[in-house]
Amino acid sequence: MSISDEARAILNHNWKEAFTIPTSKLYPFQWMWDSGFVALGNRHDNVERSIEEIKSMFTGQWENGMLPHIVFHSENEDSYFPNHDFWNCHVNQGAPVSVKTSGITQPPVYGFVLESLLSSYPNHPKVINLVRECFPKVVHYHQFLYQYRDPNQEGLFFIYHPWESGRDNSPIWDEVMSNIKITKENIPPYIRKDTAISDNNHRPTQDKYDRYVFLLELGKKHQYDGIGIAQESPFLIQDCMMNAILIRSNEALIQIGEAFGIDTEELKSWQALSRSNFESKFWNEDLAHFVSYDLRNEKQMTHKEIGGYIPLFAGLASQSQALSIKSYLQSVHDRGYYLCPSFDVDSPLFDSKRYWRGPVWPQMNWMLYHGLKKYNFDKLAQIVKSDFIELVDKLGFYEYFESKKSHVEKLTTGYGGNNFSWTASTYLDFKSKI
Ligand code: GLC
Repeated sequence: MSISDEARAILNHNWKEAFTIPTSKLYPFQWMWDSGFVALGNRHDNVERSIEEIKSMFTGQWENGMLPHIVFHSENEDSYFPNHDFWNCHVNQGAPVSVKTSGITQPPVYGFVLESLLSSYPNHPKVINLVRECFPKVVHYHQFLYQYRDPNQEGLFFIYHPWESGRDNSPIWDEVMSNIKITKENIPPYIRKDTAISDNNHRPTQDKYDRYVFLLELGKKHQYDGIGIAQESPFLIQDCMMNAILIRSNEALIQIGEAFGIDTEELKSWQALSRSNFESKFWNEDLAHFVSYDLRNEKQMTHKEIGGYIPLFAGLASQSQALSIKSYLQSVHDRGYYLCPSFDVDSPLFDSKRYWRGPVWPQMNWMLYHGLKKYNFDKLAQIVKSDFIELVDKLGFYEYFESKKSHVEKLTTGYGGNNFSWTASTYLDFKSKI
């Protein structure tokens, strides 16, 4: 079997009739941004499946527009914590009744996912129907972010849980997370499931998990959309990557809207506001990097990390900003790392094997590749693509990968879950000609 055929077999195996799970056991439900990337990989051999995947995701949309980070289509899985009972989303009357979901969101990828499907299949009736059906839903989701998550009306939304960022335990969250005081009274008892399935050394620590639960409870207390979240949450972050993805998806929606004769005035005014504040909020001249912003403590979070490169994907970097990011990434490559490590390789907080603290992540390479291409940095873009392909060819379809080349030489596997959907789909998308 060729390696691409292996990727197809993994996607077949993880397909559960109408959606794809990231991997069995560790993540047995539908995850929001994972499904977006899976739809991109599936489009080459099975676009009907991409269509169903996206439709399934939107069955979880809330009345307020929120797209949840997990849709629990099957309720019998007990291998995952926190499950739907623990989230108890019905504290919010607009949570869907037909499916159970989590109460937080994830990176808003669906605008650019729809655009990518459409550019591969501009005349496919089912793709066109999907785009027509989902366009208002994606707009409604973006409206949720502007309405409920942007208290100062800056066009930049906040997250109140690290899981929303998709980069769950990146060191950028450490300082804010460590300031949360955990007592027996402020979190309920719970039992983790991930550490029984995956290597403890690759997973977030217990200390972190208590804080994840604390923030989940805070959201629940405010019905997951109340203004009390912005007033009370110690974790209140305008994440650079999330906002860059929102802007990239807005742009996609505006293009689609114009092609389909749909009114895009509201989208354009959101987009103008977001773009006008992006640079002043997120660019850090001393680091020559984009960084995130701690809205609670009103300061930039001065770390070099992978989310800071995603503004390239949205065309938000000036030429000189893009050039400094490019030369930094080139130097990381020259120093013996696979691109792209998820955190600053020179920081004491860098850990090349633990989750978001240093390893290479498939979908991040996908966005970075397209970002570099946008600025015509073709050689570096090719490295980002071929590094990922080499890692998969050597180590298999894991959730994420060691970033230090000298360590990879001694390894036979990647890290985290195996037979991972976004790894398979990114592989197929990178290998395709479309
Ligand atoms: C982890 C990742 C997150 C992903 C999820 C399912 O929580 O940090 O980004 O969506 O797993 O793969």
